[in-house]
Amino acid sequence: MTAVRHKTIHVLFVCLGNICRSPMAEGVFRHLVEQAQLNGQIKTDSAGTGAWHVGEPPHSGTLKVLHDRSINYIHHSRQVQRDDFLHFDYIIAMDSDNFYDLKRMRQGSSAKLHKLLEFAPNLGVSDVPDPYYTGRFEEVYRLVDAACRGLLNHIIQKEGLSS
Ligand code: 4NP
Repeated sequence: MTAVRHKTIHVLFVCLGNICRSPMAEGVFRHLVEQAQLNGQIKTDSAGTGAWHVGEPPHSGTLKVLHDRSINYIHHSRQVQRDDFLHFDYIIAMDSDNFYDLKRMRQGSSAKLHKLLEFAPNLGVSDVPDPYYTGRFEEVYRLVDAACRGLLNHIIQKEGLSS
């Protein structure tokens, strides 16, 4: 019998500090991937364009949002590296600042670079607002959850995945 070999798709979520938005997006997205039984085919990570919080766990507001949905998530903040553009197939920015910072870093990479809210066009919002300054983690969750569902559908279709 021949074993079916699946390709692995690598997805990186990026914000500024890698303690609020991108860890939330990674946790929510990975949960959806597990529910779709695609965790053998889609691998995730998150990172920040800035280095202020490197090594720190996610913000308590992000951890609460995830915990309240029974999503287990452990991460230590790290900064985006140039090598990430070689390893990841999809790099997903939380806002326009992250997007343009990543665009400057990407050079010849074929990694697909998107803003997360492209995948929830009905929301009419293009940037995930930063809850670090507002404390509005639940509002961020609603945006992130809708867009992560759209992103997963997009990747399933583009990559021809099935569980
Ligand atoms: P994040 O939020 O980019 O969603 O992780 C921030 C966290 C920390 C800072 C800015 C944004 N900061 O300036 O320390």
